[in-house]
Amino acid sequence: MPTEMARKFRNALGCFTTGVCVAAARDAGGEAIGLTINSFASVSLEPPLILWSLDKGSDRMAVFEGASSFAVSVLGEADQALSQRLARKGEGLLEAGEWRAGPTGAPVLAQAIAHFDCDVFARYEGGDHVILLGHVRDFGLQEGDPPLIYFRGRYRELAPAKA
Ligand SMILES: Cc1cc2nc3c(=O)[nH]c(=O)nc-3n(C[C@H](O)[C@H](O)[C@H](O)COP(=O)(O)O)c2cc1C
Repeated sequence: MPTEMARKFRNALGCFTTGVCVAAARDAGGEAIGLTINSFASVSLEPPLILWSLDKGSDRMAVFEGASSFAVSVLGEADQALSQRLARKGEGLLEAGEWRAGPTGAPVLAQAIAHFDCDVFARYEGGDHVILLGHVRDFGLQEGDPPLIYFRGRYRELAPAKA
């Protein structure tokens, strides 16, 4: 796609407001590696499935290719700095205290407002991304915590509708 059209395409996609999540898995040495994502989507209730997509150019691709499980943690308003850090090249390592292992062994963020601990159900080709479908083995949520929001390339906070 020509550069100008690619920019416009990104801008159009950015009009779709999303939450912000961290997808994380364990590398071969057991370290917890994560990245900021907003491609998260629910897929199926029976069986319980979710998906997200990973850029084939990501340095973290090898970790997710090698892992049989991953967790998606939904970020709250207080986690903008964490989201920014985990969106930087070379900064995928989660520190002790930031995460715990879910039942599958995948890293769940301590402060997540919701999380989905998954076995890899399928990987699909998706152009320059790989679509990862997760079979949810465990999940949880914190009632009432406000989410971090992303719209038109910027972090936002939730405001109540006017009436
Ligand atoms: C709000 C937001 C959402 C993002 N969503 C995705 C996503 O769904 N999939 C993806 O592969 N990268 C996504 N990224 C980019 C990755 O976080 C970033 O490219 C990556 O972690 C940088 O390092 P890497 O290229 O070494 O992986 C997103 C970034 C931000 C700020």
